[in-house]
Amino acid sequence: MSPSPLHALSCLVLILSSAASAQSPAPRHAPIPTQIPSQNAILMGAAWYPEQWPESRWEEDLRLMEAANLKVVRIAEFAWSRMEPSEGHYDFDWLERAINLAAKHHIVSVLGTPTATPPAWLTQKYPDTLRAEPSGQRVTHGNRAHASASSPRYREFCRQIAEQMAIRFGHNPDVVGWQIDNEYGYALMSFDDGTRRQFQDWLKTKFETLDNLNTHWTTSYWSQTYDNWGEIPIPIGEHNPGLMLDWKRFVTYTWTSYQQNQIDAIRKHAEPRQFITGNFMGFFDGFDHYTITEPLTFASWDDYVGSGHVDPAYNGLAHDLTRGFKRQNFWVMETQPGAVNWSALNNFLNRGEARAMAWQAVGHGADDVNYWQWRSALNGQEELHGVLIGPDGTPVPFYNEVSQTAHEFARVESSFRDTAPVSQVALLFSYDSHWALQFQKHTQKYDDVELLKSYYRVLRQISQSVDLVGAYAPLDSYKLVVAPSLNVLPKDLADHLLEYVRQGGHLVLGPRSGMKDEFNALLPQRQPGFLVDALGARVEQYYALEKDVPVSGALGSGEASIWAEQLKSQARGDEVLLQYGRSNGWLDDQPAIITRAYGKGRITYIGAVLDDKLMATAAEWMTQKSDVTPVFGAVPEGVEVSRRVGPGKQIFVLINYAPESRRVTLPHSMQLVLDGKQADAVDLPPYGVAVALDNR
Ligand code: GLA
Repeated sequence: MSPSPLHALSCLVLILSSAASAQSPAPRHAPIPTQIPSQNAILMGAAWYPEQWPESRWEEDLRLMEAANLKVVRIAEFAWSRMEPSEGHYDFDWLERAINLAAKHHIVSVLGTPTATPPAWLTQKYPDTLRAEPSGQRVTHGNRAHASASSPRYREFCRQIAEQMAIRFGHNPDVVGWQIDNEYGYALMSFDDGTRRQFQDWLKTKFETLDNLNTHWTTSYWSQTYDNWGEIPIPIGEHNPGLMLDWKRFVTYTWTSYQQNQIDAIRKHAEPRQFITGNFMGFFDGFDHYTITEPLTFASWDDYVGSGHVDPAYNGLAHDLTRGFKRQNFWVMETQPGAVNWSALNNFLNRGEARAMAWQAVGHGADDVNYWQWRSALNGQEELHGVLIGPDGTPVPFYNEVSQTAHEFARVESSFRDTAPVSQVALLFSYDSHWALQFQKHTQKYDDVELLKSYYRVLRQISQSVDLVGAYAPLDSYKLVVAPSLNVLPKDLADHLLEYVRQGGHLVLGPRSGMKDEFNALLPQRQPGFLVDALGARVEQYYALEKDVPVSGALGSGEASIWAEQLKSQARGDEVLLQYGRSNGWLDDQPAIITRAYGKGRITYIGAVLDDKLMATAAEWMTQKSDVTPVFGAVPEGVEVSRRVGPGKQIFVLINYAPESRRVTLPHSMQLVLDGKQADAVDLPPYGVAVALDNR
């Protein structure tokens, strides 16, 4: 592949840059602004619930936080009944005192709006604010997320409490930002009649006429034709795929407008320096996160391992997913202090594991890591959850690990100022495609997130930095773009991808790509739909596999499993990289991977789920073909390296997840900022962390 003008430009900048090493690209964007200008570039904090404790205790809590070097508390996100004890009567004095006291201990506050926990007076007086289950039954008070996000009355209460909070704290110098609600969406939508009417209205705005809707959903199938908007149901269980996909979009719209209602209330009164974020949940797929994070200052997520131990590849992928929502640095708003209380086996993380996780977050672009929660509540649903302070009010052993990490953050924070990860490789994720595949799996074994993870694992090992972005994201800074399961691929998206290829990019599509339009209807072409001409090949037939199928060719030999597509070359210039061996007769000797030069770039189609070894060779091939280079260089097995780039510097975070010590040789002498020395190599014990600053 010949490099695009943009690649050439970045190479030139690279040569001119005194900071970047020989194999690193120049940053593709202006340095990111530090999220809280007056604060350290990387921060650590905790979720603190002063409302659960006598005020006389607060000072001791904050003293212990300050001693541990925690700099942030997130507060108030469940304290509605304390802030509005009865309808229209607000009491923020206690909260102001808590914020002031925190500030005295050099701790800033992030205020959560309390709308995940409406008070009992509200839901009792206005039962229509409670969420209805799919059965139609309203939930009862006493848990959380029990309100209906689509209830106009509930939204009005949310607006009022958010506005009152903003009037009181929007100018408070110690309030640095806001979190809207808490982990919205996990408790589903309300399935009441009002919500159904809103869905019908939303469809009316989208389709304008019923004819249009009936055509795109092919409702003549099974007599689904609608001749009145009021007939359209909320899909519960299996339904028309077009209806199901539009329902997901309506859910996205509902939570986005639910969020916007509060953003507007806050923005009216808050100083622009106060950020607004939301705490999302990694691969939770209830709504489209690219859409919902758009109006936020930055995205945050809650990083929980649950049972077992951290899988660095999966956790790294989830960090990169969150970074990709807005293509900028993010926060880990919550992470587990050793253990949670909600999984099948709530084991404790090993000593050192949480520190490694905190540094991993930073390496992947987190500017803050907060522990949930500071101290055990004496009663309530989460009594047994991990904490930093026990029910007796004194630190548990885990406190020391947090304290160590937070002191490290503070010691080296200036090296991270204005830095962000920069990658040559992008993976594409699309909620539309993800949902379409979930609705019609065809084989229960097909898991598009698992497939994404298997691509990520090998591509990240080679390139050491991968962006995970939405399918419509700007792509021109990437040498390689891989879309493992782009099932929904309408014309405008195909044009966007083709433009990237024309300009010199390498696009790799995985199985099941290019099958559906934006209405979740089959395209009236074979896969990959609008990209068939560029690829010069198409999918003849697809097969959910009962057993593995042998494959061999230029990339070596191995097995395809779960899914296999029989490709057919239709144009000159196609190269078959792998073909199937003897299997079901249909696939025998047929192409499994085809690649073709197109424009100044290349397009490759991988029609099968490959075994690990072939995945690795396929990744080797595609990165070499695209001139992708590792951002650091060789690291021993079990060591993860991440990089952040800023003006005149790049900084590497090295973490050893292997059970034995590992020696990492640095590409050249660098400053090991945690140890305060210059070195050519570093020895990492299990869960050991090194931070290497390269500002040559
Ligand atoms: C979520 C919530 C928190 C708490 C933790 C427990 O992330 O946001 O309020 O319940 O889980 O792990």
